[in-house]
Amino acid sequence: MSADPVLSLLRPEILALSPYSSARKESSGGRIWLDANENPLTPSTGKPLLNRYPEPQPADLIARLAAYYAVAENNILVTRGSDEGIDLLLRAFCRAGQDAILITPPTYGMYAVSAAIQNARVVAVPLLADKNFALNPEAVLAAITPSVKLVFLCSPNNPTGALLARRDVLQLVQELLSKAVVVVDEAYLEFAGTPSLTQELAGNPNLVVLRTLSKAFGLAGIRCGVTIASPTLISVLQKIIAPYPVPTPVLEAALAAITTDGVTAAQRSVQGLIAERIRVTARLATLPCVRRLWPSDSNFILFEVTDSARVMSATRAVGVVLRDRSRDYSLTNCVRMTMGTPDENNAALEAIARV
Ligand SMILES: Cc1ncc(COP(=O)(O)O)c(C=O)c1O
Repeated sequence: MSADPVLSLLRPEILALSPYSSARKESSGGRIWLDANENPLTPSTGKPLLNRYPEPQPADLIARLAAYYAVAENNILVTRGSDEGIDLLLRAFCRAGQDAILITPPTYGMYAVSAAIQNARVVAVPLLADKNFALNPEAVLAAITPSVKLVFLCSPNNPTGALLARRDVLQLVQELLSKAVVVVDEAYLEFAGTPSLTQELAGNPNLVVLRTLSKAFGLAGIRCGVTIASPTLISVLQKIIAPYPVPTPVLEAALAAITTDGVTAAQRSVQGLIAERIRVTARLATLPCVRRLWPSDSNFILFEVTDSARVMSATRAVGVVLRDRSRDYSLTNCVRMTMGTPDENNAALEAIARV
């Protein structure tokens, strides 16, 4: 165990923790289950299914996710959305009031929120706004101190839309091997059409990749995220995750999605949204109030307008809700538009065209 450099980065009390041992963890098999203080039936339906606690990490779902993400089953932890993966990492690595995370703004807001909840400091090393929001690996390395335990990189990045250069991400993973865990959030990777960083897990025990069923699979409502990391790190996160994080209806919906047909349907949906991204980008570029557009590898487009408040009220007047990102680092008057159906996108474009 001690050979893994990541273990020395963990909170010592988490390393030493004896996790809660649920009934479903302690025993399997048997015919009559009288061990978990469940009701033998669901009185409202009479059907025995929802009356039972679910498997903590359902084996059939893990097997399908492992095949889909092309990793081993022991590289996977299923969580309540990838947001829970972010939270678990914070709690595993950051001692309240002492440790820190590093983020690269403008980026996804939950890294800083989870840090605040854990009372971890946030070190911010901005992306390079004048270089299409590229990562600045040298500046990240210069900002690393012993208290920085986690580096969150979002690729494709939300809200700017583009992938981070794989070379830059790998440089950080390798140079930070025994210094910090690099968490690459690939929530939007399917829309980029490039290989996942999970290919680099072997030999990089400080690499964690976050994936989700919320975007490409269109299942934000079921809250199913996936943390992919070394088996050692996954077993640590298993100690601190809630006892039953995959509710039975979530399991059913996820199993139905990760089938040959389900994956084909998701790929078709992704292709349709990419086509919309290309079409909408081209149209936005012609509109008078649009000053700048950034290329996107995701299912949304970030663009700068003359007056974001006016764009927001013009779209809202016809019932279209966009996201004003003006409060994000260096994004004054920038608006983010998620790709909807062609009709939905046209409604937004017509309203923006009138500004
Ligand atoms: C970059 C990024 N990571 C994670 C998430 C959260 O995803 P989930 O629905 O899996 O919690 C989002 C949601 O918008 C996101 O933009």
